[in-house]
This record gives sequence, C-alpha cells and structure tokens, in this order.
Amino acid sequence: MPPNQAPADTAARSLAHWSEDGRRTMEAFYALARLDYRLLAAELDYPALLRGVADRAGDRPLTLLDVACGSGKFPETLLSDTGVASLADEGLRIDYDLLDPAPFSIVEAAAVLRPPFQEAARHEVTLEGLDPAVGPFDVVWATHALYALEPARIEDAARRFVAALAPHGVGLLAQGTHDGHYLAFYRAFLEGVRGGQGTEYVSCERFTDALREAGAGATHEVDVRRLSYEHVVADDDRDVLEGFLQRCAFDDTVSLEEMRAAPVLGDYLASCHDADAGVHRFRQEVDLVLLTPNDGTSA
Ligand SMILES: C[S@@+](CC[C@H](N)C(=O)[O-])C[C@H]1O[C@@H](n2cnc3c(N)ncnc32)[C@H](O)[C@@H]1O
Repeated sequence: MPPNQAPADTAARSLAHWSEDGRRTMEAFYALARLDYRLLAAELDYPALLRGVADRAGDRPLTLLDVACGSGKFPETLLSDTGVASLADEGLRIDYDLLDPAPFSIVEAAAVLRPPFQEAARHEVTLEGLDPAVGPFDVVWATHALYALEPARIEDAARRFVAALAPHGVGLLAQGTHDGHYLAFYRAFLEGVRGGQGTEYVSCERFTDALREAGAGATHEVDVRRLSYEHVVADDDRDVLEGFLQRCAFDDTVSLEEMRAAPVLGDYLASCHDADAGVHRFRQEVDLVLLTPNDGTSA
C-alpha cells in the first residue's frame, strides 16, 4: 500500500480478494471453511425440498438464483454429500443463474455445476444492483454470501432478494451471526489493527430483519435454525491458520504474528487458543434461514 493511503474498506477488499490473486488465502480458508458447507448440506433434506418446489412449479425445469455464488462450495457440497445429484435421474433439471460482482467467482462456481444443475444466466453484479426485470425464481439461495454488503445498501439488497423469490418458491440464507467467529474476529481486527476504522460485516440477524421488513413474511414462513460448531486448526499448521485468518479479514498484509501482537485482536486469538491440545478453536454460530410459502402448499 502506498504511504499515507488508507486501506480500502470492507466491500472493496472483499471484491479485490475474489480474484486469482486471492487464491492462496481462499484455499487456506476453505481448508477449514468447507465444514460450513458440509454442515449446511447435512441440515436439510434438499432433494425433498427441491422436489416440493418442482411439484408446485409444474412440468418445467426449475429456475434458481445463487446470490453471491463465490467459488460454488454450496452446490459442490450438495452434489457430493447429498442426494441432489440423483434428482437428475428423476428427470428434474434446475436452470442455475450465477450472481456475483466478481467475475472470478462466477467462473469458479460455473465449473462445479453438474446435473441436475444446468448453468443458465450469469449476472456480474451485486444483489442490490440486479436488474429488476430478472426473475422471479423458484429457488433463491445466498450461503455465506452477504457479509460485505455496504450498510446503506442492506435494505435494497433485502428487497431485491424478496422480489427475486416467486411466491411458490423456496429461499435460503445462511450466514454467521453477530457473536460467531466471522463477525467477532473481524470486529476485533478492525478495532485492534485498524484503530476502529472500517465497516463491520453484516450479520445473519441483520439481513433476516431486513428480509422481514422487505415483506418476506407476506408470502413466506421465515424459519431460523442456529448451527453452533468449531473450526479447529493445529498450531503447527501455520500456513492454514494464517491464511484462514487473513481471508476472514480480506487482508493478507497483516501476518499472524502481527495479529497476535495487536490489541483486542491478540486477546481474541488467545481466547481461541487451546494450548493443551495445541490447536485454535474458532467458535462458529451460523443461522440457516429457510423461506417456504406460507399458503400451506409447502407441507
Ligand atoms: C464467501 S463467498 C460466497 C460463497 C458461496 N455461496 C459458495 O457457495 O461458495 C462471498 C461472495 O460474495 C460476493 N459479494 C460481495 N458483495 C456482494 C454483494 N453486494 N452482492 C452479491 N455478492 C457479493 C463476493 O464477490 C464473493 O464471491
């Protein structure tokens, strides 16, 4: 960074890291964060959920919008860990639209799609910037997606999510809570390393409130389930530990040693250290928010 230049804020650093240059920390991050997707995949009966939408939609391929598709870990995990792939044998096709402001993410996510997911349109925009004419979709999901939303755009983004979801459709949001590691770590990072400057991540509670305010409850039941678990990394696995934490902050200019020495952040990291076991335990709390039609047709 040139001298005297303030570091870019959260949304800009997120966008810069979803690029080929960010691959090292992305891979270190997913060495641990793949667990986020395994647990989401285990939480619901996705084949049944998708069959239910197909029954309501009638005799045509389903449409799906993946909001903030990232590198496609969610569809990849559904295909590997659940019975979703077998829906293709039942004749179900799901036309899969990819939305992300980062072109890198769209290319990465497109590469994991297999039947029943069939790549459809690409939308290289933010959720809040999505053309109002696009949609509505039978399925809209956003998994670990909307942390870097600019606070002033949260309501716009929630309105666009709700408008993108057909009344008979199913929506899914999964994101860290206010007290889970992703948000707690980043608050400590901003406080201890950036002198309190910078925009915190958006919590699942905050975006769920915005969905309700945007009218999600008029057409859909909003059911929130909380997942609590730990990411555990051995102290010896320094590259993964450092890369994971750098990615959690979208900042690879600050080393593990600098993080440990920083006020506030150092205390946070010490609180995650289990010295007897020689590991760090990062306590995750993630809400899985399921939107199902509230006219009784989803039962
Ligand atoms: C952690 S990834 C999402 C993971 C993904 N759902 C998966 O299955 O792997 C976060 C993505 O959000 C995107 N993003 C950031 N701000 C966004 C916004 N305002 N609207 C939509 N996507 C956004 C980033 O470019 C990045 O690709």
